[in-house]
Amino acid sequence: MAGEFGDIVRGFSSKASPLVTGLLEADSRAVPAGLKQQGNYLPPSRQIPLSRYYDPAFAELEKEKLWKKTWQYACREEDIPEVGDRYKYDVGTLSWFIVRSGPGEIRAFNNSCLHRGTQLCSSNGWSESIRCPFHAWEWKLDGSLKNIPSRWDFPQVKTEEFKLPEARVATWGGFVFINPDPDAAPLENYLGVMPDHFKSWEPENRFTAFHIRKRVRANWKITMEAFLESYHVVETHTESLGFTGDASTQYDIWEQGDAHISRLITPLATPSPHLGDGASIAEAANYAFQAFALAMPGVPVPSFDVDSKLSGRAQVAEWRRQMMGAGLARDFSSWPDVTMIDSVEYHMFPNFCPWYGEGLPLVYQFLPYGDDPNQSVMSVRLTAPLPGGGAPRPPSAPIREIGFDELFNSAPEIGLLAVIFDQDMSNLPRIQSGLRAASDTRAVATFGRYQEQRILHFHEVLEKTLGL
Ligand code: FES
Ligand SMILES: [Fe+2]
Repeated sequence: MAGEFGDIVRGFSSKASPLVTGLLEADSRAVPAGLKQQGNYLPPSRQIPLSRYYDPAFAELEKEKLWKKTWQYACREEDIPEVGDRYKYDVGTLSWFIVRSGPGEIRAFNNSCLHRGTQLCSSNGWSESIRCPFHAWEWKLDGSLKNIPSRWDFPQVKTEEFKLPEARVATWGGFVFINPDPDAAPLENYLGVMPDHFKSWEPENRFTAFHIRKRVRANWKITMEAFLESYHVVETHTESLGFTGDASTQYDIWEQGDAHISRLITPLATPSPHLGDGASIAEAANYAFQAFALAMPGVPVPSFDVDSKLSGRAQVAEWRRQMMGAGLARDFSSWPDVTMIDSVEYHMFPNFCPWYGEGLPLVYQFLPYGDDPNQSVMSVRLTAPLPGGGAPRPPSAPIREIGFDELFNSAPEIGLLAVIFDQDMSNLPRIQSGLRAASDTRAVATFGRYQEQRILHFHEVLEKTLGL
């Protein structure tokens, strides 16, 4: 069974696994309007040349017209809690560092010394001032010049002209964004529906429970696109079909001026429509109980109760409300099933993917790595709700770096997710190699009209941004 949108089929469902709209109607709680809101745009079908994933000239164009001109998520406010804390943010060969320059004030500076260009910040950390390790030129945290050793030898240097160049900084939901373009419209214009949709979930009242940075042998767009659709689940993550509504995933796009936002909602605790009308709802609930229990060691794992008035999804959601409520001394009783268990991922152009809800509360960021367009870095954070009962805000987890040839599995803190990420990662270098070997007569990507619409949309906006 399929939902229609003009001549476009909007996902695929079964008797056992309805489309997302049906699941939201059956939610045991009131569902926020933002989750019920559907997109206002569907990009036209077309093919994308594969060369843009490896051509150095295309990467250079992205550097000049995209990364130097756009609002981009750099870090979270909790990464730099104290005045003097800094966070290094690299985009390919571009580099900035974000500094807590005063209480309630954040600045972003080009990571390059005004003397002879040395990188000013080589790692995250704290210091009282910004000091170059080569000859010790020094700036205050607000970027004004503080000291030049042998000042007598630089009569041409006027102190007021040697402030560190800055990118613009803005925040939303605990996220810190920068934009190197002084003429860009404000961040609010770019966030579109997100502030409204995330409001009740309060992304600002969360902390980073783990933070992984994985280097990948694939272009940043290839890496990102692998996480914008659930079409690959049936082949790449086959063992999750018992409890994942992969083909019934809902995709939405909102085009509003400067804001280019998309979203997917993949329902959990429901069987894949690929398993047919007779797939077991009880099994779907039981798999979901077990999957969520892996993130809560020591918690007893229930199983589907045939006598309960609640659906399988509602049973899993109710158990999560109680377990999370007890663990965090907070009240989740009014939170809808969709917020407690489903996978809801937003994308803000060009590379920011904040997930909504407790099902998978992740944040993705995809960036070029170094000067090779065949490499990228993917950052994955899990943000957890702040504990209640007056407990202090837990500190942000340090970053764990995972190299090109290392597995997510080497990061014990991410549990079962490591298996899923490593399945995704195993595809990426193969994609990068394969697309470079394409026949000249067929060197294009062809996208599904519904399930891959977010990727099509991304390329449409990218081409406009690059002036192609
Ligand atoms: S290059 Fe920075 S002080 Fe000389
Ligand atoms: Fe995946």
